Amino acid sequence: AKPIIIDCDPGIDDAIAMFLAIASEELDVKLVTTCAGNLSLDTVTRNALQLLSFVGHDIEVAPGAKEPLLKELVVAEEVHGETGLGGIQLGDANYSVSKRSAWEAMRDVLIHSEQKVTIVAIGPLTNVALLLKAYPDIRDRIEQVTIMGGACDGGNTTPVAEFNIYVDPHAAKIVFDSGLPIQMFGLDVTMKVTILKHEIEAIRNIGNRTGELVAKMLDFYSRDDRVMGMHDPCTIAYLLDPSLFTLTPCHVQVETNSELTAGQTVVDRMSQLKNAEVAFDVERDRMVDLLYDSLKKLN
Ligand code: BDR
Ligand code: CA
Repeated sequence: AKPIIIDCDPGIDDAIAMFLAIASEELDVKLVTTCAGNLSLDTVTRNALQLLSFVGHDIEVAPGAKEPLLKELVVAEEVHGETGLGGIQLGDANYSVSKRSAWEAMRDVLIHSEQKVTIVAIGPLTNVALLLKAYPDIRDRIEQVTIMGGACDGGNTTPVAEFNIYVDPHAAKIVFDSGLPIQMFGLDVTMKVTILKHEIEAIRNIGNRTGELVAKMLDFYSRDDRVMGMHDPCTIAYLLDPSLFTLTPCHVQVETNSELTAGQTVVDRMSQLKNAEVAFDVERDRMVDLLYDSLKKLN
């Protein structure tokens, strides 16, 4: 199986991405690291532990950054609810939080894995940037960084910036400029995977607790007929079945300075320089089928 680290801020769509990865035999989730983003570090770390307890997978959860590198933290409570999971209170976690930090744990996993490890980054990029700065030699052990973040054509937090990049543009710049192989799943593709009401019902009727939980979270996510994208799950779906997506090599630069456009990903398709493969298209129905099939495998 392909070893991965999930760096996240759960988060409703983070939770679904985690479930997709855990359900699969093709991916081996070696570690979950958390980063302040959708909510505070304490809340998203608690959520990660509760979600893993819910599906009965004891994976190390190591807490990372409490705040972005330079900016003040901005959270997305209105999108994910007060608990971060659509207002749902999950029971106490059976597992406890790791004693080591996200960066120590990531370094350790990277050093000791036989194969190179993929980092799936579905929150602000603070932890990944700090890892690269603290342990520059570790880069050789990273297979690729598969990112949910950014947008070519319009943001969701400002007119031009997507949330994960907006929260910590300085960290995002470090990661995009790192020279590591990167795949970017931005709003251009993730907003093509909006979940419809009848699909939420199909998830509710899968016949297990996880299906019910995911449906309840999606009820919250799509309340008042809001159309929400399956952002974070796109990264895992890609690793499970790359043929679902169309990616184009591009040059992606992150704006860090401008008051008007901070956090914008400027995606250049014409440049000879290429630093990321950017996803623009997805076979949306096949991805939703993958979601059903994966959730069915859980308890
Ligand atoms: C991203 O922001 C968060 O709210 C979601 O979890 C996702 O990672 C979408 O812009
Ligand atoms: Ca997220």
